[in-house]
Amino acid sequence: MKIVLAEKVSPATLAVFQKEPGWQIVSPDQIKNGLAAELADADALVVRSAVQADAALLSHAPKLRVIGRAGVGVDNIDTDAATHQGIVVMNTPGANAVAVAELTLGLMISMGRSIPRANNTMHAGKWDKKTLQGSELRGKTLGIVGLGRIGLEVARRAHAFGMTLIGYDPFIAPVVARENDVTLVSIDEIFKQSDYLTLHVGLTTQTEGLINAHSIGIMKQGIRIINCARGELIVDEALVEGLKSGKVAGAALDVFRQEPLKESAYYGLDNVLLSPHIAGATDEAQEAIGIQVAMQVRDYLKLGVVQNA
Ligand code: MLT
Repeated sequence: MKIVLAEKVSPATLAVFQKEPGWQIVSPDQIKNGLAAELADADALVVRSAVQADAALLSHAPKLRVIGRAGVGVDNIDTDAATHQGIVVMNTPGANAVAVAELTLGLMISMGRSIPRANNTMHAGKWDKKTLQGSELRGKTLGIVGLGRIGLEVARRAHAFGMTLIGYDPFIAPVVARENDVTLVSIDEIFKQSDYLTLHVGLTTQTEGLINAHSIGIMKQGIRIINCARGELIVDEALVEGLKSGKVAGAALDVFRQEPLKESAYYGLDNVLLSPHIAGATDEAQEAIGIQVAMQVRDYLKLGVVQNA
């Protein structure tokens, strides 16, 4: 078997494949003549989020049987083209859920307490105590759009902070929401009632542009928005407008339509917190993701077992 690791994965990922006698593992630094050439005789491809596994790339991979996505979103993989070629696409849902949930809570507290500004002013030699009075999470309403593994981890943590939880998810069983103290509401109600709104849905034609001029228009004055899911969920012009007018008190954005983010209307807005798509990037999550994706790919190639396809 030939396994092409197109992006850096944890050492434990390599170890899973290396245990298989006779398997050839190609790591990113060994890809000298381009990924397409490397895929000509590959059985498996493992990617994270940077490589675009589109139809053009897959057309160079006649033997490919499986693509392992080390992570959750498969929007960088042309799943239709893969299916057409008989390639199974597997992801690793759940492995980074705690990491994303922890960053989400961290961003909420950072916004409410202006931690980045406090740090910046201190490093600039200023003691700006008077301008740094914040607000608590306790008693605020958190709207969670998407109550999958990540959304539920967020709910459990936010509950410990004394927040009121409301959620929108057309697919969740009401009993699961109830068990996690989340009241299910319509999408418009979540916009209207939330003090903090956090997004935990994948990118689909239904979710693209979910945060737009209309939805911002019906939101509470002073809402704070967190996006650790996908940049395309937000119409940036509308959010920038909301941030400038004060309708949106703050936004914490970890994901963007174009990554890496280069030019951006968010730059310089002091009520915006930006991070470079690091929500799932913890040692623990990357280790778990690597092992999970490697075991899934191995089991498919050896036993035909399909998981998380
Ligand atoms: C994911 O989809 O798993 C996260 O956004 C993290 C990533 O893409 O690396």
